[in-house]
Amino acid sequence: MARARTLFRCAECGSVAPQWAGRCATCGEWNTLVEELEAPSVQVGTIAPAATPTPIGDIDPTEWQPRPTGIDELDRVLGGGLVPGSVTLVGGEPGIGKSTLLLQALAALAERHVRVLYVSGEESAQQVRLRAERLAALQPSLWFVAETDLGNVLGHIDGVSPVVLVVDSIQTMTSPDLTSSAGSVAQVRECAARLVREAKTRGVATVLVGHVTKDGGLAGPRVLEHVVDTVISFEGERHHALRLLRAVKHRFGSTDELGLFEMTEHGLVGLPDPSKLFLADRRPGVAGSVVVPTMEGHRPLLVELQALVSAGQGGSPRRSAQGLDHGRLAFLLAVLEQRASVDIGTSDVYALAVGGVRIVEPAADLAIALAVASARLDKPIAPDLVAIGEVGLGGELRQVGQAGRRLVEAARLGFTRALVPTSAPDGPPGVELIRVGTVVEAVRLATAGGPGQAGSVG
Ligand code: TYD
Ligand code: MG
Repeated sequence: MARARTLFRCAECGSVAPQWAGRCATCGEWNTLVEELEAPSVQVGTIAPAATPTPIGDIDPTEWQPRPTGIDELDRVLGGGLVPGSVTLVGGEPGIGKSTLLLQALAALAERHVRVLYVSGEESAQQVRLRAERLAALQPSLWFVAETDLGNVLGHIDGVSPVVLVVDSIQTMTSPDLTSSAGSVAQVRECAARLVREAKTRGVATVLVGHVTKDGGLAGPRVLEHVVDTVISFEGERHHALRLLRAVKHRFGSTDELGLFEMTEHGLVGLPDPSKLFLADRRPGVAGSVVVPTMEGHRPLLVELQALVSAGQGGSPRRSAQGLDHGRLAFLLAVLEQRASVDIGTSDVYALAVGGVRIVEPAADLAIALAVASARLDKPIAPDLVAIGEVGLGGELRQVGQAGRRLVEAARLGFTRALVPTSAPDGPPGVELIRVGTVVEAVRLATAGGPGQAGSVG
């Protein structure tokens, strides 16, 4: 096959050069030239090529009905499942569990006799078979091929005619039309564009795996966000089994859903009731622990926050925030010191969100402040209490969004009292609201007991 003609385009100024050069001759930027095809395969949008205009009422809506994968937490994020002809990009750091998740999803589909094809450019057939055994994924409708050549992949799609296709990963695929190496911006873009076109013309629901690397050594999913329909990111802390799945972009639904999994030796297990898990190991009556009803998109999660305050070693004090925002912690320490007379001084402060979640919303401010104050004063917070509220510079408490949903979740898990800002709406039955205007008042109420005694709010 004659090689298609390629050119090099500057990512900064967009000017075109016939050959690669280290520096763009037009704008003078270094390392900005990216190879592309002269007649690119890029196609943006979800419509099939050569579609004919139709009265809108005659369009068959069922053609675009999502098909559930059977993995509930994945389907939740996808808004029901995979839409025929759609392209979904699953991004995440290497080792987070993308291949595991997709193999499990394909197996679940194949179990319901849906023909699926898993193309891996990363692992050998033997490796994948071993993994599939471990995941109980040996289904006759699940087809596998180890392949990196895009042309061959297209041939395999022809041969197998899958309903769902997974390409793992897009960074290992190479188009013979380009001279650039696998994983380069040019290759990733071109291979994705071809697969998008295949997906649209054949109606194959296609999932592309994209590694996100911190060092940027590989062209990341960002390059592809505009050519795919849905971008899902798979996240988690290295040393925790918790995995979070969320949609970053979604043409067919909301981006507010959160999927939660635990990585186990038998693969990923969905966590339909994460709050219970997060609170399972909580030891009531220990100073420095507060539970906060936080929101991840539409999903309320009860998370325990812990703080430890210890005498500093001299020099600049250590301030460590795990699963919490560093800047926010520093701010809350300053407010506690200045407005609530909690003497932090040069003490070391360690604060963390238990269970591997990351909480960045200001609604957790009050709980963080209370955890630190409780640790500093050695006064446990009452175990049946949750705290919600954003803290302002003056130490005042501000109302937060979705207070109702947060409190309903707290009530469900047996909490009976909630410290909330003065303006908070009424809570659900079973939860007594304790309205406070400032962080000073909240600290005083929540740590009212003697040392080692749970605070006697109200
Ligand atoms: P993997 O799906 O290969 O990650 P990715 O495709 O995102 O690079 O998952 C790799 C990690 O998951 C690996 O460190 C081992 C772990 N793992 C389990 O703990 N249990 C399992 O059943 C499987 C298949 C993997
Ligand atoms: Mg993988």
